[in-house]
Amino acid sequence: MPVLPFDPVTTSQQEISDEIAKIQADSPTGAPLLDFRPYRSSLLRHPTKELRLIDPEGAELLAPVFGHSDVAPVESDLTIQRGGEPIGERMRVHGRVVDGDGRPVRRQLVEIWQANAAGRYSHQGDQHPAPLDPNFTGVGRCLTDDDGWYSFTTIKPGPYPWRNHHNAWRPAHIHFSLFGTDFTQRLITQMYFPGDQLIALDPIAQSITSPAALSRLIASYDHARSEHEWLLGYRWDIVLTGSHATYLEPSDD
Ligand SMILES: [Fe+2]
Repeated sequence: MPVLPFDPVTTSQQEISDEIAKIQADSPTGAPLLDFRPYRSSLLRHPTKELRLIDPEGAELLAPVFGHSDVAPVESDLTIQRGGEPIGERMRVHGRVVDGDGRPVRRQLVEIWQANAAGRYSHQGDQHPAPLDPNFTGVGRCLTDDDGWYSFTTIKPGPYPWRNHHNAWRPAHIHFSLFGTDFTQRLITQMYFPGDQLIALDPIAQSITSPAALSRLIASYDHARSEHEWLLGYRWDIVLTGSHATYLEPSDD
């Protein structure tokens, strides 16, 4: 297994932040760098070969498919999936999926996954010492409506540590997937929360070197969608193409 030429135990946040600042000064705009050195494992995980074109119809024979009727409305509420109430700050995030001309993308499968309020994923790969919540799976999905709107009711995720460097913490975020019309079109990205001081320290968020592009990954607080004595509202739109497109992660092999 390849080994990175860095020691994550001894690398400080200041060293990482200095590396980020230097790279951003050299490339203030444009698409994120796939081998973004401050995000250590990106050096090993980004594609090193030419991407292969896949025949969409051939891929359809083997890839996951879904039927619109399989997606139940209840799947967009992550607070009612188990027997009891999950712990944390109840919230709703809603927004529109549109193309570069502002036209709605209808009947689009939107999937999310996230950590619980304590910053822990309900996944075997996450073993850091924060509590699991028996009433929270952290996964949900819905279809956009005729005007491109999606909406999820959930619990605000907590920040969590990762081993990129010493004392490294991911800002709170929700992972989003848009399925497209077949499996080869799937798009993935992350949504962040306004006012989160960890965004400026995070090598994953900061690999998007354009401040304007990064700002499009940060939701807005939406008081009109907060509900009295119940939850806080956030608005986050996803623009698929054009100069104001939401940054979407390149897919892995
Ligand atoms: Fe995450």
